[in-house]
Amino acid sequence: MATIQTISMAQGAQGVCDGTPVITVEDVHKSFGAHEVLNGVTLSVSRGETLAVLGRSGTGKSVLLRLIIGLDKPDSGSIRIGGEDIAKLPIHRMAEIRKKIGFLFQHAALYDSLTVAENVAFPLQHHRREMSKSELSDRVKQLLAEVGMDNDLNKMPSDISGGMQKRVGLARALALEPEILLLDEPTSGLDPISSREIDDLILKLQRERKMASIVVTHDLLSAKTIANRLALLDQGSVVVEGSFERLQKSDIGFVREFLKQS
Ligand SMILES: Nc1ncnc2c1ncn2[C@@H]1O[C@H](COP(=O)(O)OP(=O)(O)OP(=O)(O)O)[C@@H](O)[C@H]1O
Ligand SMILES: [Mg+2]
Repeated sequence: MATIQTISMAQGAQGVCDGTPVITVEDVHKSFGAHEVLNGVTLSVSRGETLAVLGRSGTGKSVLLRLIIGLDKPDSGSIRIGGEDIAKLPIHRMAEIRKKIGFLFQHAALYDSLTVAENVAFPLQHHRREMSKSELSDRVKQLLAEVGMDNDLNKMPSDISGGMQKRVGLARALALEPEILLLDEPTSGLDPISSREIDDLILKLQRERKMASIVVTHDLLSAKTIANRLALLDQGSVVVEGSFERLQKSDIGFVREFLKQS
């Protein structure tokens, strides 16, 4: 197994880490046929904390997020959300837990045939059926205002930029007031200015909502800006974990190469 280097949790500028683990991933393995993708991943994230997961393309970052949200099952190891092992939960309990998780898919994944406002309303219509039409519309506007998109309510996803789509995806991920936020490549495909705007938005959300967050990213500058801790995946496991400075001081060849090329 690869060496794991760890340091104690950093108290990031953007959040209050109260030390309660909300997500705990322990020795998780996942293969697809003969292809072993995750080979003993261990990590944890506390309330108010943001962990950035970095790694080369195809290294299993998106697979890891899918396992945490319960869209797929690990072959072995455990994933605990708020202390509950999600592999052992009945479907109805998992559905409850999933409502606590806001997820931004790698390609924003908005519904093409729905407007911006309808996309954000979608989870509310399904899970907050008690809301009146006017409450729903107010809430959608408020969520879109949080991400700076309240002037684009009636636009279609195809009529807005990639950065705007990510913002709408974020608003939709926040709709059910999640305790956990999982973001898969929130800045990929964006120009540097839009990327920094998304970083600022994530920092603002973290300050205000104190969620436990995992952000998968290729963008080292983004990881450095938004995360309390970084974890670098290689060959199916975490090879180094800690602050950005910790990664910079690592003497592991792969870590040095990764930082040089990013
Ligand atoms: N459902 C699946 N069936 C078979 N193989 C899969 C499946 N999902 C993922 N894989 C494989 O697992 C590996 C890891 O995929 P994953 O999407 O997690 O990579 P990633 O680290 O997110 O890459 P990227 O940075 O390009 O998004 C890839 O080789 C992929 O082909
Ligand atoms: Mg991916």
